[in-house]
Amino acid sequence: MIDQCLLVTDLDGTLLGDESALERFVQWRRQIGERLKLVYASGRFVDDIWKLIERIGLPAPEAVIGGVGTQIDFAESILDRPSWCQTDRESWSSRRIRAALDSLRDLRPQPDEFQSDHKVSFYVRGASDRLIERIHETLRANRITAELVYSSNRDLDILPRGIHKGSAARFLADLWSFSLRQVIVCGDSGNDRSMFQQRFLGIVVGNAQPELRRLKGTMTYFARRKFADGILQGLGYWLASEDFPAPEWVDAA
Ligand code: GLC
Ligand code: MG
Repeated sequence: MIDQCLLVTDLDGTLLGDESALERFVQWRRQIGERLKLVYASGRFVDDIWKLIERIGLPAPEAVIGGVGTQIDFAESILDRPSWCQTDRESWSSRRIRAALDSLRDLRPQPDEFQSDHKVSFYVRGASDRLIERIHETLRANRITAELVYSSNRDLDILPRGIHKGSAARFLADLWSFSLRQVIVCGDSGNDRSMFQQRFLGIVVGNAQPELRRLKGTMTYFARRKFADGILQGLGYWLASEDFPAPEWVDAA
């Protein structure tokens, strides 16, 4: 029986994208109350996420995961704030990564506001598997171990090894003692893929990018509906047989 649940959802293209669907989600969240812990996981940095929450009046989350998993921030100030995303100079240096990849002409650095010490991001149109492999090789040759996350046929994020939205979500699930089957993750693009590889329950929204549609595994539900309605449809699927109010009205929406 699912009596407590942790919902970790991406923002752009997943929760956000259809205002009336978002309104239906907000209503459901109100109805569920305390039994649901909510976390937003985004490619945006945490400061930007908090501003966005304020600006559009999104339901208050318990925590936010920012910078594609490189940051975790809590709504309440915690005395013993657990540390996340520590790197050592040997295996990770954003400066060395930029220098190593400088000669690859297909890579265009994203603006400075999207870069941090733990996230090096580029625009790369239609990257082939060969190009991604070449980037891996170049980094290896420079003795850098990193995660490569490619999304929406455009965004390439280079992150410290083992750091992504999936490991950040797992960190919070462990911190709050949720079992795998009490965690539901939702996404629409490549930077969400790692969340679906943690053996949580998954919801891919109907408007998702091809890289997520190709996901395999029985713990992932592929919604027909888009954006927040896709989340609600998936929640109906995962929670319907359980003693947890599923958003049954969504199909009438
Ligand atoms: C967000 C970030 C960008 C990143 C993309 C995909 O748009 O701002 O830096 O590349 O998500 O993860
Ligand atoms: Mg997205």
